[in-house]
Amino acid sequence: MKSEIMRVDKYISSQLNGVSRKDAKALCRKGEVVVNGSVVKNGDEKIAAGKDTVTVQGENVAYKKYVYIMLNKPQGYVCSTKDGKSPTVLELVPPELYQNGLFPAGRLDKDTEGLVILTNDGELAHKMLSPKSHVEKKYYVELEYPVQDCYIKEFEKGMEIDGGDVCLPARIEFIPENDKTCYVYLKQGMYHQVKRMFGKLSNNVVYLKRVKIGDLDLNSNLELGQCLELLHKDVEKIL
Ligand code: URA
Repeated sequence: MKSEIMRVDKYISSQLNGVSRKDAKALCRKGEVVVNGSVVKNGDEKIAAGKDTVTVQGENVAYKKYVYIMLNKPQGYVCSTKDGKSPTVLELVPPELYQNGLFPAGRLDKDTEGLVILTNDGELAHKMLSPKSHVEKKYYVELEYPVQDCYIKEFEKGMEIDGGDVCLPARIEFIPENDKTCYVYLKQGMYHQVKRMFGKLSNNVVYLKRVKIGDLDLNSNLELGQCLELLHKDVEKIL
């Protein structure tokens, strides 16, 4: 791994959940930080992150520049880093995966379930979310009324939905076992888009789950509310 020169207090606070820069400095002062076998008492001291071995209170603190997490989002959580009222998806990240600067790369509604990627890699998130990337997202949809054949053409032609927004051409795939269910494939992510598209067709979404982004499927073993660490190359599949 390429090393990166940084202050030891920054290293510690960026790699350990709930440890601020101030806390990291205090840990140094107390002699609880060891770099390559030597106690480092000054948080300002520079280290080579990714090369030097750092322990805090005897525990190894391995360096990860960025973290990529797949979450199976349950209902009731909002896709933001802060919310006055509702719990955020960040609260579902276990401490061992948590890093400062994590955010959800893309949003699902509070009542939508499924695949959300969390990362602190702004560049990759930007690529993933840019409308120019045309990353396809697949949703499983349950409806109030049965699907109709005319939906295929409506989706294909690029629907105008409430408020005058015009959608890019989208795809719908029927599920033969149940005519009130389908998959929808979108290459953009406008606010409440799936719900508004069906609303325009006088139908209502009663359950919505994102199951795929690009070539990355939601892991079928992941329970609602669970996280899974991904590798950079897994996330690149999205692009
Ligand atoms: N479309 C919606 O309506 N809601 C979501 O959460 C995602 C897509």
